[in-house]
Amino acid sequence: MLLGSESFPKPLSQIPYRCMLISPIMKTTARAGSNIAFIKFWGQKNQKLRIPENNSISMTLGNLWTQTSISLEEDLHHDLIFFEGKEASLGFSKRVVQHLDLIRSMANTESKAIVETRNNFPMGAGIASSASGFAALTVAAAKALMLNWDSKKLSMIARRGSGSAARSILGGFVELLAGIDDDTSYATQIQPETHWDLCDIVAIVEADEKEVGSSEGHQLFKTTPVHSARLNKLHHLLAMTRSAIERKDFASLAKASEQDAIMMHAVMMTSDPPLFYWEPGTIELIKAIRTWRIRDGLPVFFTIDAGPNVHVITIERFRNEIEKRVQELPLTKQVISSSIGESARII
Ligand code: DP6
Repeated sequence: MLLGSESFPKPLSQIPYRCMLISPIMKTTARAGSNIAFIKFWGQKNQKLRIPENNSISMTLGNLWTQTSISLEEDLHHDLIFFEGKEASLGFSKRVVQHLDLIRSMANTESKAIVETRNNFPMGAGIASSASGFAALTVAAAKALMLNWDSKKLSMIARRGSGSAARSILGGFVELLAGIDDDTSYATQIQPETHWDLCDIVAIVEADEKEVGSSEGHQLFKTTPVHSARLNKLHHLLAMTRSAIERKDFASLAKASEQDAIMMHAVMMTSDPPLFYWEPGTIELIKAIRTWRIRDGLPVFFTIDAGPNVHVITIERFRNEIEKRVQELPLTKQVISSSIGESARII
């Protein structure tokens, strides 16, 4: 065994280097919340660098996170990637190793790593695990490799793993500036999480893995004329959203977010081949939520990512009431909810 039967602790100078590398002292752990975008990006200017077509604005989710630990291991010949305690699938491992390679190249090292990652939410729930996953991986790897990066740099690098991960580096309300190249595409915080106590109730209507993931879907944006119509409108919706967040104007945020979610799905549905993510439960929720807001005067709106599940946004004080209503809808299978959350961090 590593520590043998001798008494411990020993002075650090007496511990063989290898033991130090795999001892818990060298394990770096980071946690990052997922996020939900009010104004979304769809399509990329540069697929390899994952430079989005347009700016996006999100809120970081405090209770739905990924936790990732990295231990550097000089003697390993290749990285070992574990997801939820088991060896990760080939596809998952490939994307993680690619991201590690990028960060290693910046630290001028080839040290291999043991990566252990887990989410505190189920996969396929419509909660962006690539956002929290690549944000946590970036923060943990940068720290383990002693790269003293600020949030702008962390965000730029997280974006290379997954576009939406750039936003999960920061807490509260966040804007991802699409930029034009690798150095100009990163996220900034609009307001911290203490600014406004919004929450996200995720209504799961379908838990199966989606057939077409966002990485694949992004490539279809040029095949529909609706994309440029959406881009024309986005400038206005982005300004409206920034201002609604500043002024805590729920009605304007609701209007801009719902319009953009519907438009993004119109882009998807009119692509060649078309992408239909909505299920009957999606429509049921859209109609119910609009009724609760317009007829009953409740502060609630919906947004939908690249999947059928619906993110129901409200204010903390109305959370129980809305959660109850969502749960009572016949096509809702499960509900998971989260408060707004803080920036990705080392724990
Ligand atoms: C619809 O960040 O999932 O959720 O870079 O391929 O991982 P990859 O894309 P991803 O795309 C996000 C798409 C979206 C909208 C959004 O969150 O802005």
